Amino acid sequence: MTNKVAILNQPLKLLCGAQLPNRIAKAAMNEQLGDSNNAPTPEIVSLYKRWALGGAGLLITGNVMIDSSALVLPNDIVIEDEQHLVLLEQWANASKTKGGHVWMQINHPGRQSPKYLSSQPVAPSSVPLQLPAQEFAHPRALTPAEIEQLIERHIYTATVAKKVGFTGIQIHAAHGYLISQFLSPVSNLRTDKWGGTPEKRMRFLLEVYQGIRSCLGRDFPISVKLNSADFQRGGFTEEESINVVQALEQVGVDLVEISGGTYEKLAMMGQVKIPQKESTRQREAYFLEYVRLVRSIVSIPIMLTGGFRSVNAMVQAISEDSVDVIGLARPLAVAPDLPMQLLTSRTENINLQPQLTSNTDMDQGMLEIIWYTQQIHQLAGIREC
Ligand SMILES: Cc1cc2nc3c(=O)[nH]c(=O)nc-3n(C[C@H](O)[C@H](O)[C@H](O)COP(=O)(O)O)c2cc1C
Repeated sequence: MTNKVAILNQPLKLLCGAQLPNRIAKAAMNEQLGDSNNAPTPEIVSLYKRWALGGAGLLITGNVMIDSSALVLPNDIVIEDEQHLVLLEQWANASKTKGGHVWMQINHPGRQSPKYLSSQPVAPSSVPLQLPAQEFAHPRALTPAEIEQLIERHIYTATVAKKVGFTGIQIHAAHGYLISQFLSPVSNLRTDKWGGTPEKRMRFLLEVYQGIRSCLGRDFPISVKLNSADFQRGGFTEEESINVVQALEQVGVDLVEISGGTYEKLAMMGQVKIPQKESTRQREAYFLEYVRLVRSIVSIPIMLTGGFRSVNAMVQAISEDSVDVIGLARPLAVAPDLPMQLLTSRTENINLQPQLTSNTDMDQGMLEIIWYTQQIHQLAGIREC
C-alpha cells in the first residue's frame, strides 16, 4: 500500500461508538431483487456477499420501502411485518462476510411513486411532479394522523432491520422522496406543524430520526442521506440544507451522506450541470463545493456521493475538504471489488462511459438506472435477455 491510499484505509469511529473499517462506502442502489411479495430473494443474498468481499467498509442497501402501498418500482423490497425474517437475516449476514458494516436504507416515495403502482400517491401537499411524461398521478395531501402513522412505519422497518442483523440504518431524506418532499417549500405547502417554515418542514425528518433513535438505542448507527439542494426554483436551497445538517448534528446523527436532486432534476447522477469552478469540476464529486461550505460550519461526519472515479479525487476530498467517507454507487455495479483494488493501490481509477440517449434529462437518467440495474443483476447471478 502506498502512502497515498493510507488515508482511505483509516478506520472511522462514529458518535454511537461503532467503527467503520475504512473510508469507502457502497452507496445505495435499488437492486430490484424483491420477489412478487416484495420479499428479499436468494439473489440479493449472493449479490451482497460479492459486495462484502469487495472490501468497502460500509455497504448501504438500496432503498427498502416502509409501506407496500407506496413503491418506487415493482420489485422493491418492503418491510412492514415479520414475514420474511429468514431471508432478511441471510441478507444481513452475507453482507458482513468480511466484517464490514451493512446499513439498511429505508424510504417512502411519496409523490414519486409511478402511476402504474400508485393511482393516488400521498405527499405533504397536493402538488404534482412537473414532468412531461405524465407518469405520476396527482398526489393527495396526507392527513395529520397519516403523517404520525408514517413516522411509526419508518420506526418499525428500522426495528426489524436491527433485529435481523443490519448494523445500522440510513434514512432516505434526499432525491425528492417523501422526507425530501417535506423539506422542500415547492412540495410542502402545509401550514400546520409540518410546514410553513424551514423548522416545521424539517420536523418530519427529525421525528423519524428521534423515533428510531429512541427504539434502537444510542449505540446503533443512524445516518441520513440529504440533498445539498434540489436545484429547482423556489425549492430546497443549500442554505436550508445546511440548517438541516446543523439540526442533525445537534440530535446526534452519526453520518450525513450528501447528494442532490429529485426526479425533476436528476442532479444525483450528474445529469444537471451544477455551477461550479473549473478547479472543482476536475475534482469529480458533484457536490464538493457544498460540502466545503457545510464543513466550515459543522463537524458531523460527512459521506459524499456522486461522481468519484479516481483515487486522487477521493484522497483529496478526505485530506483537503475533510470529507469522512467516499460514497461509490455506479462504479460498484460494474466492479464490485473496486474498493479493495483502490485500498491496496492496485487500481487508480475507473472509467465509466455515460449511457447516452438524445432524449430529455429524465430519459437519460432512466437509461442509466436501467443499464446499471442490469449490471447489478448480472453480479447477482441473473442472466437477462
Ligand atoms: C441503479 C441505481 C439505483 C439507485 N438507487 C438508489 C437508492 O435506492 N437510494 C439512493 O439513495 N440512491 C440511489 N441511487 C443513487 C446513488 O446512490 C448515487 O447517489 C448516485 O448514483 C451517484 O453516485 P455515483 O456517481 O457513485 O454513481 C441509485 C443509483 C443507481 C445508478
